[in-house]
Amino acid sequence: MRNKPTADTLIFNIGQITTARGATPRRGKEMNTLYQITNAAIAIQKGRIMAIGPEPLVRAETQGAEQEINAGGKAVVPGFVDPHTHLIWAGERRDEFEMRLRGATYLEIMAAGGGIMNTVQATRAATLNELVSQSHRRLDKMLAYGTTTAEAKSGYGLSLAAEMKMLDAIHLLDESHPVDLVPTFLGAHAVPTEYAGEPDAYVDLIVNEMIPAVAEMRYRVEAASTENERDPVSYLPAAEFCDVFCERGAFTLEQSHRILHAAQQAGLKLKVHADEFAPPLGATTLAVTMNAISVDHIVSTTPAQIKLLANSPTIGVSLPGTPFGLGEMRFTPARQLIDGGGALALATDLNPGTCWSESMQFMMALACRAMHLTPAEALTAATLNAAFAIGRGKWVGSIEIGKAADLLIIDSDDYRDLAYHFGTNLVKTVFKHGKIVLPSAENRT
Ligand code: NIG
Ligand code: FE
Repeated sequence: MRNKPTADTLIFNIGQITTARGATPRRGKEMNTLYQITNAAIAIQKGRIMAIGPEPLVRAETQGAEQEINAGGKAVVPGFVDPHTHLIWAGERRDEFEMRLRGATYLEIMAAGGGIMNTVQATRAATLNELVSQSHRRLDKMLAYGTTTAEAKSGYGLSLAAEMKMLDAIHLLDESHPVDLVPTFLGAHAVPTEYAGEPDAYVDLIVNEMIPAVAEMRYRVEAASTENERDPVSYLPAAEFCDVFCERGAFTLEQSHRILHAAQQAGLKLKVHADEFAPPLGATTLAVTMNAISVDHIVSTTPAQIKLLANSPTIGVSLPGTPFGLGEMRFTPARQLIDGGGALALATDLNPGTCWSESMQFMMALACRAMHLTPAEALTAATLNAAFAIGRGKWVGSIEIGKAADLLIIDSDDYRDLAYHFGTNLVKTVFKHGKIVLPSAENRT
């Protein structure tokens, strides 16, 4: 008889495990199909899921565990993946929030030199340590609200040195914080003031200097922090993706194409900020034709472009907190995308201008009401599809054997409450790589 494996941790008395599943992004109707097990348990070994199923079965399969955790009959879902954040910034934009409440638009404020440039000034002036400590607090909040993996963009530096400082901050936070971060280079977030009136010269700088430098840069990581048992040292890329803000007042379609093409040649994968505002410039089509991993915002996108996207491997990332944050009522035509057979993910867009929210739960609540997703579709979009939107779908985003044990015990016996009950935090316990990271040891009762 085979020896039964021993688990490090057994989570038992789980009222309901709910998860999307699959080796590819969930598309169309698949987004509404979840796997559910009641009266369940999960066994974890070396940070990964070793067994899942009805509790007696999991107990029979494992040789007991070093540690047993009673979920108290509550529901367990995968840790959230937030595939679009501007986590790193200094300063704040409260005055602009008030200006908008009095009627100024986001694009007007940006054209007058405020908006992104406001944050660029503060971010350039901040030291690396200041950036890390300010962003660390936001990352703590993301974790508290259940996010266990997130993408983070540069884009408030807009010079080679300041963009590198932001990428350094992402890397330092990834190393020091339980939330895993996936870095994106967004040098094309705005045209900096020193290039005012000559945007193409700034595009030259991005293409000729920034992209080559970013694509070459690697961070050296010692094995202890990578959990890589074979390689004592590994090298992480400074950025995995290149993103462009293609919008009136930011970068044109032609400029975006130049930047994305250079990034692709340099080995970066592509993401696009497309159709956040009207009129749509064609960036969704550009993203699809360039085989971008995701196209994000997609609010003013035309029905023909949504159809094109739905029939492509590119994942549509909706950021419903952004129109909400701007006090606007126009959202991604998500139903069209899903009903057309496409793959949709949700993200916060966490940033100081349009959406200061760390909560994927709030994005699910908004997605159901403003875009008519079902709670099941919203969970798929906030977990497995979100993981695929940042190239992590093989490792995180669902509760499947072999995947990272990134799990949430929620304060409810039904996962649907994550969307139904809003404006509050339903996350009770967060597991990252099989370890309880929240509540922290000193706050556990
Ligand atoms: O995704 N649109 C571009 N970037 C952000 C806003 C950044 C900012 O205003 O600081 C967004 O909405
Ligand atoms: Fe964004």
